[in-house]
Order: sequence, then C-alpha cells, then structure tokens
Amino acid sequence: MKALILSGGKGTRLRPITHTSAKQLVPVANKPILFYAIEAIRDAGISDIGIIVGDTHEEIRAAVGDGYQFGVSVTYIQQDAPLGLAHAVKIAEEFMAGDSFVMFLGDNLIKDGIKPFVAEYEQTDANSQILLAHVPNAREFGVAEIEGGRVVRLVEKPQNPPSDLALVGVYMFDHNVFEAVNSIAPSARGELEITDAIQYLIDKGFRVESHIVTGWWKDTGKLDDMLEANRMILDGLQTDIGGQVDEQSTIEGRVVTAKGSQIINSCVRGPAIIGEDCVIENSFIGPYTAVNDRSIVRGSEIEHSIILEDSRVLDIGSRLADSLIGKNANISRNHKTPRAYRMMLGDNSEVSVL
Ligand code: G1P
Repeated sequence: MKALILSGGKGTRLRPITHTSAKQLVPVANKPILFYAIEAIRDAGISDIGIIVGDTHEEIRAAVGDGYQFGVSVTYIQQDAPLGLAHAVKIAEEFMAGDSFVMFLGDNLIKDGIKPFVAEYEQTDANSQILLAHVPNAREFGVAEIEGGRVVRLVEKPQNPPSDLALVGVYMFDHNVFEAVNSIAPSARGELEITDAIQYLIDKGFRVESHIVTGWWKDTGKLDDMLEANRMILDGLQTDIGGQVDEQSTIEGRVVTAKGSQIINSCVRGPAIIGEDCVIENSFIGPYTAVNDRSIVRGSEIEHSIILEDSRVLDIGSRLADSLIGKNANISRNHKTPRAYRMMLGDNSEVSVL
C-alpha cells in the first residue's frame, strides 16, 4: 500500500498564522501537525508517501525533505489550484500506479494512529474503507447516513445532518477510486468533493466499509481545535529536562525542556513543553502550554497556549491564556504615556483585552 497526504489548502480559519505559514506546519506540542500524519502512516507499515502540495510547497518541502528523517520516501505532487480533495486524488493517479492507498488529510490528528484501520482494510476485499466519528457539530464535516450498519449516503457539510457521524480525514481506497474522481462533477463550491467520489463508489456497487473511531480525533482547522490537540498530545508527555533549571525555579508535573533552554526563577507546571534555546525568567508557565524554540518569556504568566518560534512575551503583568502566538511576535508592557494598548497586528488577527 501507498499513502497520500494532502498538504495544500489555504488554512483560512487559522489566519493570521496561515498568512505566513502552511496550516499543516503549525506545531502541536512543538511538532508540526503534518509530522504526526507521516509518523502514523510509517507506523502502519507504509513507506511510500505522496504529498499533495499547493502554494506553500516550498515550506513543506523544506520541513519534510525526502522523508529520510522519518524513515519513509516522499514524492511531492503539485496541485496548481485548490480544486478539492477528490482533485488531489485525481492528480495522484500516476504516483499510485494501481496500488491501494490510505489518504490522510494533513491537518487531521488521530491519537492512536491508523495501524489497526490499515490492517483491517488490507485483510478485507473492500474497495474502500472510511472512518467515522461521533461529533457534536456534524454540519462542519462530511456526514454519513447509515442503514442496517452500512453507509448509504454521504453529504458534505449538510445544513440538516442525517446523523452525528462525521467523516474523519483518513480514507482507504483501491484503484477504483480513480474511476470515481474522474466521473464526478464539481460541487456548488466549485470543488471535486471526496464525499461525492465515495458516494459514486457506493452507488456503483463497490464495497465501501466504515469503521467508527472511538479514540481521540481532531481536524485542527481552527484555534480551539489546535489548543485541544495541544492538550491531548501534552497529556501523554514524559518528563525530560534537557535544559538548565536554576535553584530558584520549580518544575511540577510532566515537563519537557529542550537543550539550550534556561528556566530562571520561574515555575513550570506541566504538562508543558519548552523548546530549544528558550529563556523563561521570573515567569509562570502553566499547564497545556507549548513554547517553541528560541522564545523568551520574562516577567509573565502563560497557560493553555501555543507560542511559536522566536517570540517574546515580556513583563505583561497579567496572564496570557487560550492563545496561539505566531513566529517572531512581541508582546510587552509599555510605560509610555498616554497609557494605551499599542498594537501592530497582522490581517485577520484577533485580540481580546482585559
Ligand atoms: C474535509 C472533508 C470532510 C471531512 C473533514 C475531516 O473538510 O471535506 O468531509 O469530514 O475534512 O477533517 P475540510 O476540513 O477540508 O473542510
């Protein structure tokens, strides 16, 4: 079997972070979300991976390379315009060369990986296997209608969902999917929908099996989902102190600090992760916080937040919570008069002040 990871798209729901960064490279617990997908595929025993890339291809190529660091072989497939998930499958036909494959949306995270699902698919002679999960907000997903234990209908982001079973962004197909993606027409939003391709398979009598995922799964398209994914991964952290911690500091619970980082006169309460060459001074880093490489936190308190590389949080005087801070951002307290909030924010930023 081969694998196809979709890593194009614009990530509009994660702006402004995605103005300058691919959404699949936003880190969860200091590791790009895309890397979890590559590792899940590798751990399922698949080493030949095609990655669909779009506008952000340079950044994705720079981060993943030829796959050697993960023990897999990566081939990049360029999608010139975001014409839909089924279009991505269409342009991967040559790469698949008749093999079955697992398709993984690069912004999806499945805690327990996909090994059992791939094994199950390989043992049956189903043409396709889809994964479903119960969700409270079915309107935001592709939704399955089940009759007698079988999927009879799939609808993309329905106003009136026929069930609470969402399509998880991991799908298994054999070569018959190419007949489907080459036969369907674009949807109202002008995209070739993977849900329509699977519906085509069902309608033509191909065998489409479904499996309900009961473990933790997340589509990390939005801020709250990113923070939840960060919480979930940090919950599994094992303490590993790779940097320096001075005598005035306390480390509580499960905390990882990477090499070169310094914790000075501070309290870090896990689960939390501090990247390489960070400085945490006179500060409190609370549970479910990930501070990425080379960031500086001084005289401040942070919890339940993700701070990307090279950022500075200095003497802010109150606690920063539930936040996602981009690369090379500065948050600091000023003592200038008149007293005022002073900001230079990127397009589509969101700030909530006390
Ligand atoms: C896509 C699919 C949808 C699926 C979801 C899973 O939606 O179109 O059917 O339920 O991924 O993450 P998107 O997140 O691209 O809007």
